[in-house]
Amino acid sequence: MSHHDDLIATDILGYLDAQERKSFLRFITCGSVDDGKSTLIGRLLYDSKLIYEDQLATIEKDSKKSGTQGDKIDLALLVDGLAAEREQGITIDVAYRFFSTDKRKFIVADTPGHEQYTRNMATGASTADVAILLIDARHGVQIQTRRHAYICSLLGIKHVVIAVNKMDLLDFDQRKFNAIETDFRDFATQLDFADMAFIPMSALDGDNVSTRSARAGWYSGPTLMEYLETVDVESADLNAPFRLPVQWVNRPNLDFRGFSGTVASGKIKVGDEIIVIPSGKRSAVASIVTFDGDLKVAREDQAVTLTLEDEIDISRGDLICAAEHPAGQSDQFKADIIWMSDDALLPGRQYLLKTGNKTVPASISSINHRTNVNTLAKAAAKTLDLNEIGEVKLSLGAPIAFDPYSENRNTGSFILIDRQSNATVGAGMIRFSLRRAKNVVWQDLEVAKPERAGQKNQKPAALWFTGLSGSGKSTVANLVEKRLFDLGRHTYILDGDNVRHGLNNDLGFTDADRVENIRRVSELTKLMVDAGLVTLVSFISPFKAERRMARDILDDGEFIEIFVNTPLDVAEARDVKGLYAKARAGLIENFTGIDSDYEIPENPEIIINTNDMSAKEAAEVIVTYLQDNGYLEGLDL
Ligand code: ADX
Repeated sequence: MSHHDDLIATDILGYLDAQERKSFLRFITCGSVDDGKSTLIGRLLYDSKLIYEDQLATIEKDSKKSGTQGDKIDLALLVDGLAAEREQGITIDVAYRFFSTDKRKFIVADTPGHEQYTRNMATGASTADVAILLIDARHGVQIQTRRHAYICSLLGIKHVVIAVNKMDLLDFDQRKFNAIETDFRDFATQLDFADMAFIPMSALDGDNVSTRSARAGWYSGPTLMEYLETVDVESADLNAPFRLPVQWVNRPNLDFRGFSGTVASGKIKVGDEIIVIPSGKRSAVASIVTFDGDLKVAREDQAVTLTLEDEIDISRGDLICAAEHPAGQSDQFKADIIWMSDDALLPGRQYLLKTGNKTVPASISSINHRTNVNTLAKAAAKTLDLNEIGEVKLSLGAPIAFDPYSENRNTGSFILIDRQSNATVGAGMIRFSLRRAKNVVWQDLEVAKPERAGQKNQKPAALWFTGLSGSGKSTVANLVEKRLFDLGRHTYILDGDNVRHGLNNDLGFTDADRVENIRRVSELTKLMVDAGLVTLVSFISPFKAERRMARDILDDGEFIEIFVNTPLDVAEARDVKGLYAKARAGLIENFTGIDSDYEIPENPEIIINTNDMSAKEAAEVIVTYLQDNGYLEGLDL
């Protein structure tokens, strides 16, 4: 075995203990295979003697056969070989490699493949202490270098190494190296790095990776390995205030009540005062229990169970904090978001926001700007597409405990989840709380929904008609309203074409505008139902997410979804308003069913197949449904 560590042979326990106590450094390598990234990682593993002899023999053989480096060992084969193996299974966006030296243990985040998409890089960067930005000395600072640097800075990496690679091809020309340094420093004035190290190297030959290069006599800084072994990233971590997101309340019997989770930041000792957010209750730590026995002190990343000196109410998702440094609490934020989904971010749409162990409904109330990751230019934007980054205002359904991301990468970050697919669609960093919502208090009115409904002697509800343009929604809704009106019901119709003349006359037909259209109409519907009315709502409302939002903001049983199921060819053949012809001729963009989606309802209360029945019959089906389900009974007054 090439892994030499005499301690293993002589004192295995001593070896394990030394490994345990070594500090950890997480770093990310940014650059493409062409810049020599795989070679550099291979070189680090090779120099730290973490390549085993059988692997080495294979690489030597392969280097002769298929390597690109003549007689030299092609270290990239090691890394790429692992990547190929990995890709046979499910696709992993980020690979983590582990190695260690006498001084430190390292975890390298590596995003495989030539293309480093923003989301992959962001995932790797979010936990890294240091970023190595690889530059091919012959090409200097490239657009992708800027992109990588920006993302690293955005994700709070403070220490960067600019590894100016392939210096051997330029005879270690100091002027060329200096020019690259000046160029990068100029650009980096816009970023937020605490320190930058520039190292001239040849990953292929090993110059300045772990051994000092004789060919760059003019360079007096550290080798890459020296830098990685000595860069100070711990003091900041240890001084961070204590945070423990409660994952579960551990109560095996009446005598024991502990709060379990992984320490998100800082450290805690027995006896330390704590405060719980959101309740604001205070106590002190009585014991720190772990699987391996009790501890006096616990630190970041340790999984622990705390018991407290007082009986206070704490539930899953609460944040236990150092008493002298409580986390903030808010439901409105300014945040930066990295969008990770093929479906664009749409302001007004409801997502789920997950932070620590807490998940709450959330929507983007507006996008302040989108940042071009290549030029850092900011531009106005209505949506964010895959891999785009923007600054947004975020509005949550309930307050969360948080720290600004600049102070705590754990409690200041979140992910956004799609409510239909449960997929992670975005990752975000909280910049600060916007206290806007705090000054608005819900007014309890003396006359409320039950009184208003009682006066009208009816059960208020929303009859939500959805379907393609020209499917017959408005025609059927009209007939239903007429029937209800004749039955003495108090009704109102909200119709897409009409509401778009006034309240929503600022909105068009992009996905983003439709989301906002339906969000406003849902809120309006809620108010009308609150007023005690049977409200008929007739909008294409093409997206499941917004129909679900409308359902969710009403009380149980108040939302009746009616799918007016007219196939596209039938609606198009009717073309009452002549809009389909225009859309086909390219005169109207984003036309539903043609170049804009319609998502069919999965579980509507009523389906109307307009092929099988007349509009009058359809109205009858709906009125019968209302009768059968108790909507038309008088209220007990
Ligand atoms: S929704 O998609 O946002 O719910 P809404 O119901 O308000 O749409 O408006 C649809 C009506 O606007 C259609 O019935 C049609 O008369 C008109 N319209 C104009 N342009 C479009 C378009 N591009 N797509 C769909 N409907 C359009």
